[in-house]
Amino acid sequence: MNIILLGPPGGGKGTQAKKIVEKYGIPHIATGDILRDAVAKGTELGKKAKEYMDRGELVPDEIVIGIVEERLKQPDCEKGFLLDGFPRTLKQAEALDDMLKGLNRKIDVTIYIDVPEEEVVRRIANRRSCKRCGAVYHLIYAPPKEPNKCDKCGGELYQRDDDKEETVRQRFKVYMENTAPLIEYYEKKGLLYRVDGTKSIDEVWSQIEDVLKKVAK
Ligand code: AP5
Repeated sequence: MNIILLGPPGGGKGTQAKKIVEKYGIPHIATGDILRDAVAKGTELGKKAKEYMDRGELVPDEIVIGIVEERLKQPDCEKGFLLDGFPRTLKQAEALDDMLKGLNRKIDVTIYIDVPEEEVVRRIANRRSCKRCGAVYHLIYAPPKEPNKCDKCGGELYQRDDDKEETVRQRFKVYMENTAPLIEYYEKKGLLYRVDGTKSIDEVWSQIEDVLKKVAK
């Protein structure tokens, strides 16, 4: 299955993405993770991306489109893929349609996780991520068993540079202007399924499982 996860920053896309890829055995393509990895390694791409990410702005379309195009050509994507954080602009969505046409593929479903701004800010302020394996925690809703230590690999937990409240609000603004219009884009194609992202992690997962069962039929 070829899946897009759409939703605001901190809306729970990464959290639910991990569950989907585990269940369906498809690769998780998260442009934010790919960019953060490039920043951590200090590559040319990372240096360019960092200035946009730290300001809560989008990295230019040409850069991100190129990354996804390369990734989708890899053989592990032939059995399906999950896109998390891409597309984020109309230009990216149209470029994705073109790429997939070239590969004789199509999107099967776009899952929109709907969460309002105040909840996003509350969630991101308490988010911690593992430096080593990228696992995501929430100090209140999904805490690690031991403080500051990843349950899965024992790695150190940290707070992302772009998770300061001021930057989160800027990211939400950028999301409303650039990414929210994609809800209508995929709705018109008959591909959009909306889930209530304000529920608990397990309740959101159960809504997503229902959608994926319906689409797989
Ligand atoms: P990216 O990494 O994609 O960030 P984002 O979209 O802002 O999303 P987040 O990773 O912040 O949140 P999430 O929805 O995955 O939520 P999570 O599951 O962690 O992008 C970062 C930057 O990279 C962008 O700002 C941009 O600069 C650049 N970029 C990336 N892609 C780009 C593109 N395509 N084009 C241009 N630029 C691009 O959950 C958040 C917290 O809430 C966690 O602590 C979690 O434990 C908790 N939580 C999750 N679900 C629930 C729940 N149901 N109840 C309670 N808590 C919950």
